Amino acid sequence: MDFFIDTANLDQIREAQDLGILNGVTTNPSLMAKEGIKGEENILNHYKTICEIVDGDVSAEVIATDFEGMIKEGEELAALHPQIVVKVPVTKNGIKAIKYLSGKGIRTNCTLIFSPGQALLAAKAGATYVSPFIGRIDDTSTDGIDLIYKIVDMFGTYGIETQVLAASIRHTMHIVQCAEAGADVATCPLNAILGLLKHPLTDNGLAQFLADYKKLNS
Ligand code: G3P
Repeated sequence: MDFFIDTANLDQIREAQDLGILNGVTTNPSLMAKEGIKGEENILNHYKTICEIVDGDVSAEVIATDFEGMIKEGEELAALHPQIVVKVPVTKNGIKAIKYLSGKGIRTNCTLIFSPGQALLAAKAGATYVSPFIGRIDDTSTDGIDLIYKIVDMFGTYGIETQVLAASIRHTMHIVQCAEAGADVATCPLNAILGLLKHPLTDNGLAQFLADYKKLNS
């Protein structure tokens, strides 16, 4: 499973990149706003900076909701850098835009996926990725991970090449569950990734090893 980081924060992106396990970045308008990035030029420059930090795919979301606007923005975003993947919401115009952009060889990430049917339609349109939002489904007292199992199973049945990019990951256990469910990618907050390292027996074991070494070598 590939690891993406779900943030527009450059320090966090650098920290994840330095760890050596990062395969890409996802952003959305809320994450850009959280970093105070505003104005078209600043936003585009921010995407370029992210592409220079990481080696992998960087999702940049369109703001337009009409078909013409979506494809115009999508083409502009894709022209910014070869690593850019155009993120498009799963609306009627979004599906049309994904079909158009994929026909032009532009890679897309269909976002705000909450059902297997939405994922199927996005895949039919040629999306490179679909992004099911598991945390937001959990918020409605329904199992978000179950959606990952269903989409992975459906894509497997038909040999669909669209990648399942699990999004809205809120904590470390979500990452493990996404891997168990067969997600191609999990896009995660940095603290959820770092949580994978934590185990008290590792800390205790290391302390014991170092203490035993010191006894004989000091
Ligand atoms: O990847 C989508 C993500 O940014 C949304 O996360 O926590 O706002 O549901 P959240």
